Amino acid sequence: MRIMGFVGSPRKGGNTDALVGEVLRGAASLGATTEKVFLNDLDARGCQACDTCRAGEGYTGCVLDDDMRAVHEKLIESDAFVLGCPIYCFGPSAQAKIFLDRWYGLGYKENGERRSKLRGKKMVLCLVYGDDNPFTSGAMNAFATFRDEAAWCGVEMASVLYGTANKPGEIRENARIMEEAYAAGRGLAKA
Ligand SMILES: Cc1cc2nc3c(=O)[nH]c(=O)nc-3n(C[C@H](O)[C@H](O)[C@H](O)COP(=O)(O)O)c2cc1C
Repeated sequence: MRIMGFVGSPRKGGNTDALVGEVLRGAASLGATTEKVFLNDLDARGCQACDTCRAGEGYTGCVLDDDMRAVHEKLIESDAFVLGCPIYCFGPSAQAKIFLDRWYGLGYKENGERRSKLRGKKMVLCLVYGDDNPFTSGAMNAFATFRDEAAWCGVEMASVLYGTANKPGEIRENARIMEEAYAAGRGLAKA
């Protein structure tokens, strides 16, 4: 069982990092092989809408020759993944949005039907925001974006964790969400 973790915050040791780390720790406790990727470290552009990935039959992969290529290989090889995203300006951080937009390049055509290399994978989503209310924080906007894109790609949203934090690592003081994160990781590893 291979489980990837993606951190959509630039803050290493921040709240998103802490939650993703806890999900991976839970998964590793059941023997899963885990790896964490900081999306902010990638040299990766947004989707260029060239549609080369949709031009013929079968999977060709994204034509962009950047760090997302290796990330896509890891994603394809994984059984499940966790994506952590801080709320920035009432939506996903730019780092997480680029990652999400590039899922487009994991799509392909088979017998004229749209398919995705992500189809059938399980996903845990972690959202962190400064506001004390998930509805006014913008977390719901980000949630809807990830939920709809996951559904479009055939990814199963196994669980969604969300909580308030501001100072780096402050989310660790929230025992409920840390326990949920650990359990969500174990859930992925059992699936
Ligand atoms: C550029 C920027 C925009 C932000 N916008 C929002 C927002 O719209 N809503 C909110 O509740 N918090 C917002 N925040 C607060 C972060 O979501 C919060 O500090 C979170 O804990 C950051 O996660 P991290 O520690 O993983 O970086 C923003 C923070 C930054 C830096």
